Amino acid sequence: MKKKYCGKFIVIDGPDGGGKTTQTGLLADHLSSKHIPFIKIREPGSTRIGEKIRKILLNPLFKDISLMTELFLYMACRAQLVEEIIKPALKSGRIVLCERFLSSSIAYQGKAGGLGEKTVRQIGLVATDRIKPDLTIILDISTAHGLTRIRHRKKNSLDRIEARRLEFHKKVRAGFRKLAGQDPAKVKLIDASEPVALVQARIRKLIDYVI
Ligand code: TMP
Repeated sequence: MKKKYCGKFIVIDGPDGGGKTTQTGLLADHLSSKHIPFIKIREPGSTRIGEKIRKILLNPLFKDISLMTELFLYMACRAQLVEEIIKPALKSGRIVLCERFLSSSIAYQGKAGGLGEKTVRQIGLVATDRIKPDLTIILDISTAHGLTRIRHRKKNSLDRIEARRLEFHKKVRAGFRKLAGQDPAKVKLIDASEPVALVQARIRKLIDYVI
């Protein structure tokens, strides 16, 4: 019997250096091979407006952005993405694979930045029009390991957020781990220090269950 796929919203998130882009790409290959309709997007970005805002957010020269401005810029990207891409895709029954979402704002601006989870969630409710992921997969990696991977890959040309102190990134990781603890049914933690193929196998197992 043919399986009927309705739209599902899947977020791949976690600290920098966890391998989100690689794993999301492999997951996209998996869905393609099964002829499952999907779209692959990333935050911040994936819309014309969002990619412009991304350039401001990640530019290491803009050190003077206030934390609240930073939060609103991430939320502005998100609002545009929700209206322009996510809602229509879910309505048409596609799987939405999204690198990062509100969980990142909670970990980076809420927990590590100090704005607090409650504030970020409140603003997030408005920005996302209450659209929530069906599943969030957190690729968990120790801060030292994650930053080493990033420095190696980017030859030390880190973006504005990546270049923040080790302490900041440790709080980011703690923020993500807390999110997984709060909602273990919908937010799954995967050890991203394992080999790529093993991490992918674990992700696919979780995804196959949801779709
Ligand atoms: P990335 O797409 O290469 O992971 O870069 C995005 C950076 O932005 C990354 O360091 C995490 C950060 N970020 C936030 O601080 N808050 C957010 O809400 C999002 C989506 C990303």
